[in-house]
Amino acid sequence: MDRKYRAEPYRIKMVEAIKETTRHDREEALKRVGYNVFAIKSDDVYIDLLTDSGTGAMSDAQWGAMMIADEAYAGSRSYYRLKAVVEEITGYHYLLPVHQGRGAEQVLMGSLIHREGMVFISNSHFDTTRAHVELAGARALDCVIEAAFDTQTPHPFKGNFDVAKLERLILEKGPENIAGIIYTITNNSMGGQPVSLENLTAVSKIAKKYGILRIMDGARYAENAFFIQQREAAYCDWTIQDIARAQFDLADVFMMSAKKDGLVNMGGLLVIKDNQSLFEACQVRVVPMEGFPTYGGMSGRAMDALAVGLKEALEVPYLTHRTDQIRYLADRLQASGIPVQTPPGGHAVFIDAKAWLPHIPQTAFPAQSVVIELYLEAGIRAVEIGSFLLGNDPDTHEPLISPTEFVRLTIPRRTYTYRHLDDVADALSAIHARKETLKGLKVVKEPAVLRHFTAQLAYLD
Ligand code: F0G
Repeated sequence: MDRKYRAEPYRIKMVEAIKETTRHDREEALKRVGYNVFAIKSDDVYIDLLTDSGTGAMSDAQWGAMMIADEAYAGSRSYYRLKAVVEEITGYHYLLPVHQGRGAEQVLMGSLIHREGMVFISNSHFDTTRAHVELAGARALDCVIEAAFDTQTPHPFKGNFDVAKLERLILEKGPENIAGIIYTITNNSMGGQPVSLENLTAVSKIAKKYGILRIMDGARYAENAFFIQQREAAYCDWTIQDIARAQFDLADVFMMSAKKDGLVNMGGLLVIKDNQSLFEACQVRVVPMEGFPTYGGMSGRAMDALAVGLKEALEVPYLTHRTDQIRYLADRLQASGIPVQTPPGGHAVFIDAKAWLPHIPQTAFPAQSVVIELYLEAGIRAVEIGSFLLGNDPDTHEPLISPTEFVRLTIPRRTYTYRHLDDVADALSAIHARKETLKGLKVVKEPAVLRHFTAQLAYLD
């Protein structure tokens, strides 16, 4: 059967009711929270596209696996089942479960930074990864290709490293000062954009040339492998498992927020290929920070659910439907004239609010204005990924201007149907018809760091 968008490859056996609110309710809710949708109760949200992290639905097989979980503190059967699956997928030897992705970041970054002046280089650091690099006393540099910033010109791998810039940065900072090169796959900040195997191979070669540790931030490694199969001709007849393994072969360490391609609601992994001394250093830190090394903050139930989820996330029907849903929503928005990151990536549609609302300057947060309007219009919660998120310069305290102003419509896994996505597209299309009336915002109250989550805003007059 020739289908442009694949139907859900599952039957729905359990449902969670969602509530519709009135426009008046939503106006009141927004006023209460100072126009920051992070503070809205999920019960007051109709379709929640804030994040794909821990918001997916588990399968019957995962729920079943939880029933046989072993909750022993040390050396549980659940741990060994998870270890076997992780070894089978990655080929890596040392596993440390952690409570979520940022747990792995905290343990690893602290193990790698021993002195001042150290640097990590990534295609694009995710916010918490950058925060842990900086908390450990190092600096985080990004070197994604320029094509990523041009949302309207398609490029199959907008998540790629700019390889020439990478080598320049290494030489400029001195190879001995580079604590690691971090492959963020897919590249969340740039639009869930994939990184090609050709690019990873080139980056890995440079890392080896200069003796630099290769770290994969692989929260969405399965989606990345699927895009490689779809978009990189040399791998079109490889299995997802083989492509995933090829990705792992090009790294030394795998950090994972399992709340994404692990298909679980909580959990994470820190996996080390063969570096025993690094494993031992991390193990020492994992005990006080996350928990004993055979659970690291995860329950036996969570580890068993993850052991199953990791395999389900590599299945082609699942990955096809997942990426088709993203493409469907992107196609509908583009048909209405709304500019989105093109082609769409793996976990979200990213609206280019800078291009869409040129009348709102970046200092007045155009993407946040859309986020608020979308909640008002239909009770749909998206998230701003732009200058509001970026915050202020830690040294000068001046507001930073982001190179991109995105509204991220993040699709939870196996949770919403195409019909929900129609409601999202219809709401945005209604906003498109009156987009000139959208107003900019100013920050009225903010914490010193990570303001995105708790700052309060007000409309500019
Ligand atoms: N790395 C990437 C690429 C991520 O997208 C995230 C989380 C993390 C690390 C941290 O993992 O949340 O389990 O501690 N991203 C979520 C998001 C929060 O909404 O994009 P975590």
